[in-house]
Amino acid sequence: MSTRIAVAGVHGHGATHVRDARQYGDLVAIADPRPPADIDVPVYPSLDELLAATEVDVVVICTPIQTHVPLAEMALRAGADILLEKPPTASMAEFEYLSKVIEETGRACQVGFQAQASAATLQLARLVADGGLGELRGISATGKWLRKAGYFDRAPWAGRRTLNGVAVVDGAVTNPLAHSAAAALLLDGSTGVDDIRSVETDLFRANDIESDDTSTVRITTTRGTSILIAVTLCAAEQSEPAVIVHGSEGRAVLNYTTDTLELPGGTQTLGRASLLENLIQHRADSAVPLYCSFAASGGFTRVVEAIRLADEPAVIPDACVQWEGDGAERHAIVHDVESWIDRAADELALFSEISAPWTKA
Ligand SMILES: NC(=O)c1ccc[n+]([C@@H]2O[C@H](COP(=O)([O-])OP(=O)(O)OC[C@H]3O[C@@H](n4cnc5c(N)ncnc54)[C@H](O)[C@@H]3O)[C@@H](O)[C@H]2O)c1
Repeated sequence: MSTRIAVAGVHGHGATHVRDARQYGDLVAIADPRPPADIDVPVYPSLDELLAATEVDVVVICTPIQTHVPLAEMALRAGADILLEKPPTASMAEFEYLSKVIEETGRACQVGFQAQASAATLQLARLVADGGLGELRGISATGKWLRKAGYFDRAPWAGRRTLNGVAVVDGAVTNPLAHSAAAALLLDGSTGVDDIRSVETDLFRANDIESDDTSTVRITTTRGTSILIAVTLCAAEQSEPAVIVHGSEGRAVLNYTTDTLELPGGTQTLGRASLLENLIQHRADSAVPLYCSFAASGGFTRVVEAIRLADEPAVIPDACVQWEGDGAERHAIVHDVESWIDRAADELALFSEISAPWTKA
């Protein structure tokens, strides 16, 4: 029998899940308080109402971060397995709570870190584990994105640290470029909640938001690896994020958005599995492992928690920022942020440690 799939949250990234649900199973219903136009399945204003009216096997949750835990719990307690978008939870307390619900209900939870299902990521992880790049000297991730006012204005939770007292933690490291930290942790074999020794944060913002948009974060894993994340949403132009493994015998670069792997011997582009198809296969045969189980997002959630608890991001001085465009197109460009990101990544150093201009008081 085909898997009966419901999708909660369909207007943003959820549109891709609606397509996947039709491809890998039967899309039986949608929950969204803003009903989509022209859709051929029943639409409910809430997941609660959907679950009361519909038998489902899998619920995909692609809603604002602060709604993840209540919706995930609702779906799991209704007997469904879930694909929960990243970041799965906005705090360690929420992570621990949802871990217990998953254990109690015995249901499966796949987390929406699709880069973990990339053959490029997995091949590089195997190479690192086998010592193919020599001794591991560190891992860095660079993200140079350009986000305009329309992105931050699209929803009340965008760019917020909290909303109505509830944690959101929608910053550059934890949400738009979350795959960078998650992939770097996977490459180190440090995805679990106990795999993190410390997280140092160095958070800044040019936009008029609560969260960070230009940040470095250094994660030290229990096995002793330094992972340096250097990202911005204020680049002069959008480019592909990269995760770089620095080994004593060479360096590898993973572009997880294109599944491309640059190794000392050459560059290759590999394929990517579907997280939803994998969850369906796991339901049929529990011997099929999930690409990103909820437990395997524990290390990443330690990073979210450190950013949640960090001081508010420091405002980047006007002298370092140029504004372009009008209305929804208006966007900040932090001067020369690309080269400071590259330098932070090469030196595994925080922006403050290399004295990036906006870090000086
Ligand atoms: N995996 C990825 O690469 C990726 C990319 C983008 C976004 N995301 C994640 O997907 C989630 C949604 O992000 P977005 O940017 O699409 O958000 P969005 O705010 O643009 O869209 C959220 C959708 O959820 C609906 N919604 C809000 N509350 C709801 C509720 N209680 N029940 C059902 N539907 C509800 C909204 O009406 C809207 O359709 C976030 O967790 C985000 O981090 C993941």
